[in-house]
Formats: sequence, structure tokens, C-alpha cells
Amino acid sequence: PDAGNIRIDGHTLLAGVIGWPVAHSRSPLMHNWWLRQGGINGAYVPLPVAPGQFETAVRGLLAAGFRGVNVTIPHKESAYRIVDRLHRSARRSGSVNTLVFDSDGKIEGYSTDGDGFVANVEAHGIAVNGGRALLLGAGGAARAIAASLLDRGMEVLVANRTRARADALAASLEGVVVVDWAQAGSVLPGCAMLVNTTSIGMEGGAQAQFPLDLAQADPALVVCDIVYVPRRTGLLEWAAGHGLRTVDGLGMLIHQAGLGFEKWFGAKPDIGPAVEALLDADL
Ligand code: ATR
Repeated sequence: PDAGNIRIDGHTLLAGVIGWPVAHSRSPLMHNWWLRQGGINGAYVPLPVAPGQFETAVRGLLAAGFRGVNVTIPHKESAYRIVDRLHRSARRSGSVNTLVFDSDGKIEGYSTDGDGFVANVEAHGIAVNGGRALLLGAGGAARAIAASLLDRGMEVLVANRTRARADALAASLEGVVVVDWAQAGSVLPGCAMLVNTTSIGMEGGAQAQFPLDLAQADPALVVCDIVYVPRRTGLLEWAAGHGLRTVDGLGMLIHQAGLGFEKWFGAKPDIGPAVEALLDADL
């Protein structure tokens, strides 16, 4: 990326992303663009940290004056364990993807996935304040999204191929109702939102992989996919073919990143078509 007007000096605010591997992460591109746009003296760097070295790395970054970091695979569980304060978003989602280093030397853990998801849907002009959502999948992303949707007063149904994982999610998050994977189609007609957090339906032929038929959906249904490579997933194509509104995963990536940016750098990032185009060009 263009480093023309990045100035690194004694006042530069530092943040980054810890992962292994981390080279593929789009976060540095996005955050450094926001820093330049905002004229902020800051830098955001990829931090490859091997499994087993996470806590050592985090304590070092804290000692070195970093503002905080994003945490990605395979360190999310470690992040959850080492924080001094778990924000409600982290407790509810059972995961931590954003660490904020306080001025008192304490580590705060947040999960920005669920709120980033909701903020992105709202940015599409869709109100998230009630009605029924059907979530497909029961992994970490599903739990974070379920927590934020419940907080907004939505009814949340979860269907997962392996029923036990959906049961575990429901046990940790009051209000979640489990639906059998094979029965997901029968609850679809009453839903206002469908959210795919699984890895299926990325390419064409989505119809065959999902246990539901979008032809039976309420015409007001909003179909969301959290996958962003490809951006137009097979599921979203299928939904668009039925005239349903769609929300792709790139906006969630941007909004969840923006929440961390605000905490570290104290400024609102420019979330709009320009940063989307920047990422699109890099996909
Ligand atoms: P994350 O934690 O990031 O959400 P994950 O743990 O890899 O990701 O979860 C992937 C999700 O996709 C799971 O819900 C998985 O279902 P299982 O719990 O049954 O494994 C779901 N998934 C992956 N391949 C699938 C397939 N072919 N059919 C249905 N669900 C599938």
C-alpha cells in the first residue's frame, strides 16, 4: 500500500492483528487507509505469532505501548483466557477478537463480530429491532451474531448440521431456540432474517446444500451471508433471484473492524463505499 504520508515517530499510536498465519489478513490495509484518511498519526501492523507464544507477545505489546490488537485464528481462545476484563460482548459471544490496552496497563477483551454484523445490516437501511432470525451454523461467529440479535430484541433460531453444537450454543445463550437442521425449511416462512454462518453455499448450486427453499420465504426476508470471498455467494445469488434483499459479508468485516479502530485511535473511521472498493479490489 501507499506509505507516502505515513509518519512513524514517538507519538505514533500502534495497533495490529495477531494471527498464525496472518499474511492474508485485510485488516492492515483497512486500518492504515482509515488512519491516512483521518490524518491520524498511527500504524496497524500484521503480527505473526506462533501458537504457544500468544501471551508472551501480548504482554510485550502492552509493555511496548501498543493501544491494542485484533486477535484471529488460532489465538481467540487464548485471548479469552488472558484478559483482565471481559466486556459484555465477549462474555455473551464466548470469544474475544479485539484487545484494548488501558492506560492503567489492563487488558480489556471485546467481541466486535456481532455488533459489526448488526451495524452492517443497519447500514443497508434495514431495521434490526424485532422479528425472527434463523441462523445456520453454530460456530463462534454464529454465537456472536445470535447474542447481538437477541440484544436487539430479535427471536433467534439456530440450526446446525451437528445438532449438539447448536444445543451447546443455546445452553450458553438464553433465548436461543434450536431447530433441527433438516427442519430449518419449516420455520423459514415466519422469518424476517436468514443468516448463513456456515461455509456452505459459497459457490453456485446453493439450493442443493441448504435444508430450505427460498421460494417459501416471506418476500420481506433479508438474506445475509458472513462469507466475503466470494462476495456474491451462491446463497446470495439464489436469494437475489427470488427478489429478496441481501447483505454480504464484506460490510460485516468493515464494521467490526471499525469498532476496534474507534477504541484504539479515538476517531470514527470512514465506513463507506470507498473502503469497500479498496477491499473489493484486494479480494
Ligand atoms: P466458525 O466457528 O468460524 O463459525 P466453524 O467452527 O468452522 O466456524 O463452523 C463452520 C460451520 O459450518 C459449522 O456450523 C458447520 O457445521 P457442523 O457443526 O455440523 O460441522 C457448518 N458446516 C460446514 N460444512 C457444512 C456442510 N457441508 N453442511 C452443513 N453445515 C456445514
